[in-house]
Amino acid sequence: MSDAREPAAAAGAMEGGGYYTEHSAPQQAYGELGFEWLEEAARTVPAPPDGEPLTVADLGAAGGGSSLEPMRRAIAAYREGDPGRPVVVVHTDIASDDFSALFDLVHGSPDSYLRAPDVYALAAGASFYERLFPDGHLSLAWCSIAVHWLSAVPRPIPDHVYCAFARGDVRDALREQSASDWRAFLRHRAAELRSGGRLVVIGGAALDDGSSGAEGLMTMADGALRELVAAGTLRDDEYARMTIPTWNRTTAEFLAPFEDGEAGPLELRRHATRTLADPYLARYEAGGDVDAYAADVAGFFHAAFEPSLWAALDPDRDPAALASAFDDRLRAAIAADPRAAACSWHVVALDLARVVRGGRTG
Ligand SMILES: C[S@@+](CC[C@H](N)C(=O)[O-])C[C@H]1O[C@@H](n2cnc3c(N)ncnc32)[C@H](O)[C@@H]1O
Repeated sequence: MSDAREPAAAAGAMEGGGYYTEHSAPQQAYGELGFEWLEEAARTVPAPPDGEPLTVADLGAAGGGSSLEPMRRAIAAYREGDPGRPVVVVHTDIASDDFSALFDLVHGSPDSYLRAPDVYALAAGASFYERLFPDGHLSLAWCSIAVHWLSAVPRPIPDHVYCAFARGDVRDALREQSASDWRAFLRHRAAELRSGGRLVVIGGAALDDGSSGAEGLMTMADGALRELVAAGTLRDDEYARMTIPTWNRTTAEFLAPFEDGEAGPLELRRHATRTLADPYLARYEAGGDVDAYAADVAGFFHAAFEPSLWAALDPDRDPAALASAFDDRLRAAIAADPRAAACSWHVVALDLARVVRGGRTG
């Protein structure tokens, strides 16, 4: 039997089959915050040696829907100064990601960056908390709304599913896991980037009190799960294991490795913290229908978080049946109090550079 205190590998993949891409308007809006920095970084990265392509990493790509535009912009910006160089884009995610859906989109979409000549799409199915590329292989890297997903849940949160509500030792353990993951992420990217290479991260963040801006929706989701327990539909120990494997870092937590030297040759050029309004609420308040709003918000929750919850079910269970019962309850709760369900997610944007050997980046 497994020890309840043993860290459980996080099952953080998004819903596949294009569902995440169709239900991730907020994530796409957060990514846009980093486009200008990414383009500027692409204009200034040193050219690789003659005969070598420019390699760009898209870290935590999910179904690729949020990746097409930043990759298109990065390639166009780089080619302003070096038009003929081949470009290889490597989309990375954990192995359970739906890479088939990603390649369908990247190859099939008229908006794909692959419409530019001599550009190639590849993938790597491994955690970004591990090494993904050889030393000095990457010129540019982009990572949007992904580094708040933890590599493991040290201990499930006993009385909620969301990190902002963790208390005491459980909270400390999640914070430590997050700090260790973030240091690993930076250490590996520092090794993988070429001298002068650049990395732009848009990270799910928290205010100093630990709130991410999604506490209302998470409380409704937790309430819907508890109703299923009370109805005998969800088992007590299944609920007890359910923890969304994320930790939204405070700005101080994001910056700590740059202040204590742990980021090594990665230099923090600038950073910014933003809080974004909920695009679904804006549509509803502009005259939308409450049921359509509830469907939008529940679809967003389903796409990003439900695969992690249903991974905690006992092996004899049918996740689809539970998901349907949960969805009915979540939609009803959202429709009953639309504004309480709106998310004002906090995000931190970081513009990082691998220092040029012998000095600072330009
Ligand atoms: C919220 S989605 C963001 C996807 C996309 N970048 C966007 O902006 O819409 C987070 C992605 O990070 C991926 N992810 C989580 N943990 C990861 C890890 N350790 N290594 C690589 N990807 C990870 C998830 O599988 C998921 O596809």
